[in-house]
Amino acid sequence: MSSEKPRKTATQLVTGGRKKEFTGSVVNVPVWRASTHLYCDVASLEAGKETNADGRFFYGRRGSPTQWALADALTGMEPGAAGTMLYPSGVAAISCALLSVLRPGDVLLMTDNAYDPSRSFADGFLKRFGIETRYFDPLITDYGSLFCERTRAILLEAPGSLTFEVQDVPAICAEAKKRGVVTLLDNTWATPYFFTALNKGVDMTILAATKYIVGHSDVMLGCVTTHEKYWTRLRQTAQQLGQIVSPDDAFLASRGLRTLAVRMNAHEASALKIARWLQTRPEVETVLHPALPECPGHAFWARDFTGSSGLFSFVLKGSKAKAAAFVDALDLFGIGYSWGGFESLALPVHPETCRSEVPWDTSRNIIRLQIGLEDSDDLIADLESAFGQTTGLD
Ligand SMILES: Cc1ncc(COP(=O)(O)O)c(C=O)c1O
Repeated sequence: MSSEKPRKTATQLVTGGRKKEFTGSVVNVPVWRASTHLYCDVASLEAGKETNADGRFFYGRRGSPTQWALADALTGMEPGAAGTMLYPSGVAAISCALLSVLRPGDVLLMTDNAYDPSRSFADGFLKRFGIETRYFDPLITDYGSLFCERTRAILLEAPGSLTFEVQDVPAICAEAKKRGVVTLLDNTWATPYFFTALNKGVDMTILAATKYIVGHSDVMLGCVTTHEKYWTRLRQTAQQLGQIVSPDDAFLASRGLRTLAVRMNAHEASALKIARWLQTRPEVETVLHPALPECPGHAFWARDFTGSSGLFSFVLKGSKAKAAAFVDALDLFGIGYSWGGFESLALPVHPETCRSEVPWDTSRNIIRLQIGLEDSDDLIADLESAFGQTTGLD
């Protein structure tokens, strides 16, 4: 069999990271629990210190084959990538990526629909270190007007995880590149399965691997993948901040990765079916799903993404009390934060509390759905029953 032929993504997900030196003679990379690695002699101990290379034992904080194999597999998902760092949560991945490029006095640009804790990190931690954050409308088209002399980095999120506006990522990255500004993208919604970021111009692509990569709602994990130019500083920052992921969590994430393609295809089909059904309901004002033309930025999704995942929102007509009653009336959907697992979730969300540039009309009540792997007919029946139980409420 020729190894020259470019492999399809689903194949890469199955084979990625499974190097012989990591797996030995078994299919999966074993869980290497280790703080101390033993050296055969002093010379090899000294050599380890000198090369500071990845992929060889040094000390537990630098990982073991279990973590290296996962990082390797994630790097393989992004054409042009030099490496991937792992973090104990998605938020740790976002903050460490930003810290690897920002300095006091810099301006950070952040899309106004960014995940709320990304904003908290910028408005709290970064501000204390003399870094100013300016928020911008995710649907701005005059990209050039965003930048100033002090702009060092720009954090994008496409689509936003509450209101689902999709940004023109390649155009914003092209403008940033002209000015030497580093582009970072929270790519958790699409994952590299539906959106390879580095070949669209992004410098650092970030995943809350807690969601689709792990896929089973049982591990917190984050990762950042970047190309050669930023790899050393990303890696050094993570090491200096003492970031390490447990081998058990890395093992579970690698296991999740093997089924990412089938899970994402299933999430996509079911979520789209439910989103289209919701469009027909008189109780629904609008459905915010990037693959539907009524979603802001849909054209960018259609141009740049190869698919859509299982998370979307809809605006329910009526009051906040009705939105809460609707969610309470659901039976198959759990009420909880997070998403990307095998189980469906629903919750009312309040974008007005986490944006500053583009106000959200507080009379419009959003319900966010994470569509899991249950049968879509059962999920539709559950939603239909909740609509029935809340008829008559304003
Ligand atoms: C879009 C997005 N990015 C990042 C994160 C943070 O991930 P974690 O919960 O693993 O810290 C989340 C979590 O909900 C998220 O929704």
